[in-house]
Amino acid sequence: MKNKIYLIANWKMQLLNKEAENLATQIIQEYKNTRIQEYKNTRIQEYKNTRIQELKIILCPTFTALSKVGEIIKNCQLSNVPAGRDQMSLGSQDVFEHEKGAYTGEVSTLQLKELGVEYVIVGHSERRQYLKETDEDVNRKVKVVLDNNLVPILCVGETFDERRIGKTDLVLIRQVSRALADVKLDAPKGAMKGVKELIIAYEPVWVIGSGQAIAPTDAEHAARVIKQTLLDFFDQETIEKNIAIIYGGSVDESNINDFIIDGLLDGVLVGGASLTKEKFMPLIRQLTNSHE
Ligand code: PGA
Repeated sequence: MKNKIYLIANWKMQLLNKEAENLATQIIQEYKNTRIQEYKNTRIQEYKNTRIQELKIILCPTFTALSKVGEIIKNCQLSNVPAGRDQMSLGSQDVFEHEKGAYTGEVSTLQLKELGVEYVIVGHSERRQYLKETDEDVNRKVKVVLDNNLVPILCVGETFDERRIGKTDLVLIRQVSRALADVKLDAPKGAMKGVKELIIAYEPVWVIGSGQAIAPTDAEHAARVIKQTLLDFFDQETIEKNIAIIYGGSVDESNINDFIIDGLLDGVLVGGASLTKEKFMPLIRQLTNSHE
């Protein structure tokens, strides 16, 4: 049985604001109904003991829809089921490296926090490719996100050419190492919150949006390489307790469970299959039904 599994919806720039609001409302409503029904049908202790202990669903709309989607999430908390599981959270798709100042067009961690954002995707391959984000940019963003007690969802992954010439492992080691240079996960002395969390999403670039996910054994291998790299930065206990590695790239209803691998992969980052209720709800059902 897994302790915590992440299902992260990256809506990219695919939805208009109204569409994002409608989708959030539909997903939350349907999810709530199913869970409350299930809860009513099961004795409390049984409900607590079965299935994954905590499913973290994180919706990441575009910046302009964050405020409304945040309100929808806040107003729809699952008050009738036991706390500590089945949580919905708000995530952003990016952030700027400074907290405040004359940076036209940028958005800061402080502004995101005001809207209820808890998670921030950093270094997605589309930003590395189209916005020319470097490993150093990614490192600065990871730091500002952690400094503000938000959780970074750090994306790493090789391109098709890099895989073709056998450089996958090297790329992963380089991206993880540079992104985490001088990163600390312990909270400062006297801070209310304990050790900080980090999510690393392995996303092979060539598979994103292709409709064809990578072989689960390859994702497993990548997760091992990432874990090994993490040992240069953190102790084993911190890695086990505070860092989750997840997979992203053409995840859908048919393959999602292949990428939940005990002790190695704790969830998925989903693009295309998160854009409609019809595609997203089956992902939730797959996760809640098959890890008893
Ligand atoms: P995809 O996107 O699920 O459409 O492949 C994943 C991602 O880019 O995070």
